Amino acid sequence: MSDEATRLIAAAREAARNAHAPYSHFAVGAAVLLSDGSVVTGANVENASYGLSLCAETVAIASVSASGRLRDVVAIGVIGGMMDADGAATGSEPVRPCGRCRQVINEAAQMSRRDVAVYCGGAHGDTIARYTLSALLPDAFGPSDLGID
Ligand code: THU
Repeated sequence: MSDEATRLIAAAREAARNAHAPYSHFAVGAAVLLSDGSVVTGANVENASYGLSLCAETVAIASVSASGRLRDVVAIGVIGGMMDADGAATGSEPVRPCGRCRQVINEAAQMSRRDVAVYCGGAHGDTIARYTLSALLPDAFGPSDLGID
Protein backbone atom coordinates (compact mmCIF):
# COMPACT_ATOMS: atom_id res chain seq x y z
CA MET A 1 0.00 0.00 0.00
CA SER A 2 1.13 3.60 -0.61
CA ASP A 3 2.99 5.83 1.82
CA GLU A 4 -0.14 7.98 1.86
CA ALA A 5 -2.27 5.07 3.04
CA THR A 6 0.24 3.97 5.66
CA ARG A 7 0.60 7.51 6.99
CA LEU A 8 -3.14 8.10 7.26
CA ILE A 9 -3.84 4.76 8.91
CA ALA A 10 -1.08 5.42 11.45
CA ALA A 11 -2.53 8.87 12.20
CA ALA A 12 -6.04 7.41 12.50
CA ARG A 13 -4.77 4.81 14.96
CA GLU A 14 -3.19 7.56 17.04
CA ALA A 15 -6.43 9.57 16.94
CA ALA A 16 -8.49 6.57 18.06
CA ARG A 17 -6.64 6.69 21.36
CA ASN A 18 -8.76 9.75 22.13
CA ALA A 19 -12.08 8.13 21.30
CA HIS A 20 -14.83 8.86 23.81
CA ALA A 21 -16.76 5.63 23.46
CA PRO A 22 -17.91 4.51 26.94
CA TYR A 23 -21.21 3.11 25.57
CA SER A 24 -20.26 1.09 22.50
CA HIS A 25 -16.65 0.47 23.55
CA PHE A 26 -15.84 0.77 19.86
CA ALA A 27 -13.04 3.26 19.18
CA VAL A 28 -12.72 4.90 15.76
CA GLY A 29 -10.05 7.23 14.46
CA ALA A 30 -9.99 9.23 11.24
CA ALA A 31 -7.21 11.18 9.54
CA VAL A 32 -7.80 13.60 6.66
CA LEU A 33 -4.99 14.45 4.24
CA LEU A 34 -5.05 18.00 2.85
CA SER A 35 -3.45 19.22 -0.36
CA ASP A 36 -0.62 20.96 1.52
CA GLY A 37 0.36 17.62 3.06
CA SER A 38 -1.03 18.34 6.49
CA VAL A 39 -3.24 15.86 8.33
CA VAL A 40 -6.30 16.65 10.48
CA THR A 41 -7.62 13.93 12.78
CA GLY A 42 -10.76 13.05 14.68
CA ALA A 43 -12.14 10.35 16.95
CA ASN A 44 -15.67 9.32 17.78
CA VAL A 45 -17.40 11.28 20.53
CA GLU A 46 -20.28 9.38 22.08
CA ASN A 47 -23.00 10.95 24.18
CA ALA A 48 -25.15 9.77 27.08
CA SER A 49 -28.06 10.57 24.77
CA TYR A 50 -26.89 7.84 22.40
CA GLY A 51 -28.28 9.28 19.18
CA LEU A 52 -26.18 12.41 19.54
CA SER A 53 -22.91 10.51 19.16
CA LEU A 54 -20.49 11.76 16.53
CA CYS A 55 -18.43 9.53 14.27
CA ALA A 56 -14.68 9.97 13.91
CA GLU A 57 -14.88 10.88 10.21
CA THR A 58 -17.51 13.54 10.90
CA VAL A 59 -15.41 15.04 13.70
CA ALA A 60 -12.35 15.14 11.43
CA ILE A 61 -14.20 16.69 8.47
CA ALA A 62 -15.85 19.25 10.77
CA SER A 63 -12.41 20.23 12.07
CA VAL A 64 -11.16 20.61 8.49
CA SER A 65 -14.16 22.78 7.66
CA ALA A 66 -13.72 24.86 10.80
CA SER A 67 -10.24 25.77 9.62
CA GLY A 68 -11.58 26.77 6.20
CA ARG A 69 -10.04 23.91 4.25
CA LEU A 70 -12.97 21.85 3.04
CA ARG A 71 -11.82 22.41 -0.56
CA ASP A 72 -8.38 20.96 0.22
CA VAL A 73 -9.37 17.41 1.17
CA VAL A 74 -7.43 14.73 -0.74
CA ALA A 75 -7.88 11.49 1.21
CA ILE A 76 -9.08 10.05 4.50
CA GLY A 77 -7.95 7.09 6.58
CA VAL A 78 -10.28 5.32 9.00
CA ILE A 79 -9.63 2.64 11.60
CA GLY A 80 -11.71 1.16 14.37
CA GLY A 81 -12.10 -1.71 16.77
CA MET A 82 -13.59 -2.87 20.03
CA MET A 83 -11.73 -1.46 23.02
CA ASP A 84 -9.91 -3.67 25.49
CA ALA A 85 -10.00 -3.16 29.26
CA ASP A 86 -7.40 -0.39 28.92
CA GLY A 87 -9.43 1.47 26.31
CA ALA A 88 -7.22 0.53 23.37
CA ALA A 89 -8.80 -0.45 20.07
CA THR A 90 -8.35 -4.09 19.09
CA GLY A 91 -8.60 -6.20 15.96
CA SER A 92 -7.26 -6.09 12.42
CA GLU A 93 -10.43 -6.15 10.34
CA PRO A 94 -10.78 -2.92 8.33
CA VAL A 95 -13.62 -0.60 9.31
CA ARG A 96 -15.52 1.23 6.57
CA PRO A 97 -17.29 4.58 7.04
CA CYS A 98 -20.97 4.43 7.96
CA GLY A 99 -23.55 5.81 5.55
CA ARG A 100 -23.82 9.19 7.22
CA CYS A 101 -20.05 9.62 7.18
CA ARG A 102 -19.93 8.79 3.48
CA GLN A 103 -22.34 11.67 2.91
CA VAL A 104 -20.24 13.96 5.11
CA ILE A 105 -17.06 12.98 3.22
CA ASN A 106 -18.94 13.60 -0.03
CA GLU A 107 -19.44 17.25 0.94
CA ALA A 108 -15.66 17.64 1.13
CA ALA A 109 -15.12 15.58 -2.02
CA GLN A 110 -17.43 17.71 -4.12
CA MET A 111 -16.18 20.99 -2.67
CA SER A 112 -12.60 19.91 -3.35
CA ARG A 113 -13.47 18.48 -6.80
CA ARG A 114 -11.65 15.27 -5.97
CA ASP A 115 -12.80 11.67 -5.83
CA VAL A 116 -11.41 11.38 -2.31
CA ALA A 117 -9.46 8.22 -1.52
CA VAL A 118 -10.76 6.34 1.53
CA TYR A 119 -8.30 4.01 3.27
CA CYS A 120 -9.80 1.58 5.76
CA GLY A 121 -7.85 -0.38 8.35
CA GLY A 122 -8.18 -2.12 11.66
CA ALA A 123 -6.61 -1.18 14.96
CA HIS A 124 -3.71 -3.48 14.14
CA GLY A 125 -2.25 -5.31 11.20
CA ASP A 126 -1.19 -4.46 7.68
CA THR A 127 -4.48 -4.87 5.86
CA ILE A 128 -5.62 -1.60 4.32
CA ALA A 129 -8.59 -1.51 1.96
CA ARG A 130 -8.58 1.36 -0.56
CA TYR A 131 -11.75 2.82 -1.97
CA THR A 132 -12.78 5.96 -3.73
CA LEU A 133 -15.65 7.95 -2.27
CA SER A 134 -17.59 7.52 -5.51
CA ALA A 135 -17.37 3.74 -5.09
CA LEU A 136 -18.62 3.93 -1.49
CA LEU A 137 -21.37 6.42 -2.33
CA PRO A 138 -22.26 6.24 -6.03
CA ASP A 139 -24.47 8.87 -7.64
CA ALA A 140 -24.30 10.97 -4.48
CA PHE A 141 -26.53 13.90 -3.65
CA GLY A 142 -24.30 16.86 -3.00
CA PRO A 143 -23.57 20.55 -3.24
CA SER A 144 -24.00 20.67 -7.01
CA ASP A 145 -27.63 19.57 -6.63
CA LEU A 146 -28.23 22.82 -4.77
CA GLY A 147 -26.29 24.91 -7.26
CA ILE A 148 -23.15 25.10 -5.14
CA ASP A 149 -19.79 24.56 -6.75
N1 THU B 1 -18.43 5.07 14.30
C1 THU B 1 -17.58 5.95 13.72
O1 THU B 1 -16.94 6.77 14.41
N2 THU B 1 -17.47 5.95 12.38
C2 THU B 1 -18.11 5.09 11.55
O2 THU B 1 -18.02 5.22 10.34
C3 THU B 1 -18.91 3.99 12.11
C4 THU B 1 -19.23 4.10 13.57
C5 THU B 1 -18.59 5.09 15.76
C6 THU B 1 -19.93 5.57 16.24
C7 THU B 1 -20.01 4.94 17.61
O3 THU B 1 -19.35 5.81 18.54
C8 THU B 1 -19.22 3.66 17.47
O4 THU B 1 -18.44 3.79 16.29
C9 THU B 1 -20.08 2.41 17.38
O5 THU B 1 -21.02 2.54 16.36
